[in-house]
Amino acid sequence: MANFMAVLTARRWFEDRQAAIVAPAEAEAEEEEERAPAYVVYTSVGAHRCIQQAVAMAGIQSGRSTATRRPRRRVGGLRKIAVGVDYRMSLALLEEEIVADLAAGLVPLLVVAAAGTVDVGAIDDLPGIARLCERFHLWFHVDGAYGALGVLSSHVRPLLSGIELAHSIAFDFHKWGQVLPARPALSHSACLCRLSSRCNMTQGC
Ligand SMILES: Cc1ncc(COP(=O)(O)O)c(C=O)c1O
Repeated sequence: MANFMAVLTARRWFEDRQAAIVAPAEAEAEEEEERAPAYVVYTSVGAHRCIQQAVAMAGIQSGRSTATRRPRRRVGGLRKIAVGVDYRMSLALLEEEIVADLAAGLVPLLVVAAAGTVDVGAIDDLPGIARLCERFHLWFHVDGAYGALGVLSSHVRPLLSGIELAHSIAFDFHKWGQVLPARPALSHSACLCRLSSRCNMTQGC
């Protein structure tokens, strides 16, 4: 739900900005056209499936072209960006997609970065994504449902550097929020280090 709210908030932010820069006469003409912009949302292939659901619930159309005969064309929706060997979203590919979408007349809206993927605990390059968002005027959201509360641990905090640059953050109290106060020793030595690539839970910590 927090990720869904971030998508809605990003869209509202974009619409408000547009309204402020488009002259009233032009706005009236545009209202007549009533054409919704083809928004694009970017996240990594490792992102939680709720991101896809959030984008769909917000009414942002699917990233797949349904045309069967026509050549594949770019349409709005969710772009899942490939990750590197470190399981983090590739910044080069992200930038490539944003540039291609702008050239195709679509509206890049927001990037959803992962702060702890469910499978391997990968944390995207948050400062790098923040810089791209600033450059292309995108909303920067961090899905920290799993990992954002790692900032409470001095061991994990450096991995989350850049999270403070986000326009919005989703995090769940019902995950680490319940573990930290109850078992501080465990949280530092065993659980939170799962967010670090050094951890191998199968062998214990
Ligand atoms: C990384 C991540 N993102 C999003 C969610 C969805 O969170 P919620 O069910 O609180 O909306 C979860 C839940 O497990 C998650 O682990």
